[in-house]
Amino acid sequence: MKKFYLLAFALVSVFALVSCQDDFDPDYPADEIQYDGSRRILVAYFSQTGNTERLANQIVEATGADVYRIEAAEPYASNPYDDSDRIQNESYNDLRPEVANLPDNVEDYDVIMVGSPIWWHNPAMVVCTFLESYDLSGKIIVPFFTYGSTEYLQQSIDKIHEVTPASTHLRTYLGGDVEEWLREIHILQ
Ligand SMILES: Cc1cc2nc3c(=O)[nH]c(=O)nc-3n(C[C@H](O)[C@H](O)[C@H](O)COP(=O)(O)O)c2cc1C
Repeated sequence: MKKFYLLAFALVSVFALVSCQDDFDPDYPADEIQYDGSRRILVAYFSQTGNTERLANQIVEATGADVYRIEAAEPYASNPYDDSDRIQNESYNDLRPEVANLPDNVEDYDVIMVGSPIWWHNPAMVVCTFLESYDLSGKIIVPFFTYGSTEYLQQSIDKIHEVTPASTHLRTYLGGDVEEWLREIHILQ
């Protein structure tokens, strides 16, 4: 029965991704920044099944940014639906799973583009652990997500804002051409 619900969730999610992406208009603080080619950019992402990694790689290709993959100290199942109860518990209880590989130079960057799947209505909580491990005040944070449906996209954006309260936040990726989005938010010229 559980498998049936998970399959049904996956199918509804894929349908919702295809049907909702165009009309989503997120409420985000429209912080205006100017392009500055001297900014150091880090793309930091978590990905379990490769979707967020693919998007992260496109951003890296477009920007030439450094890249860092967040790894959980206690790894998730290679099919994360097998870890659904754990993931739901972490999300619903706002837990902070440990990061296995925290770099010590994150505060050297001016821009942190941070990527995550949406897992049970929030970013993967290990991404929040990563962000809260540093003083990111004054940094530019650009969240990006992959997901089954946009229903919890705003909540996920809000969560990233909540754990980086003293940072400047730029608009998340909403589908379409990655370079065009990066130009619109003045990360690319
Ligand atoms: C346990 C679990 C929970 C998920 N919860 C959501 C969710 O709440 N909302 C959503 O839109 N997608 C949800 N998804 C779908 C993932 O966000 C989507 O497959 C994502 O692209 C996976 O990224 P990855 O390949 O980088 O790991 C969930 C997936 C899993 C495995």
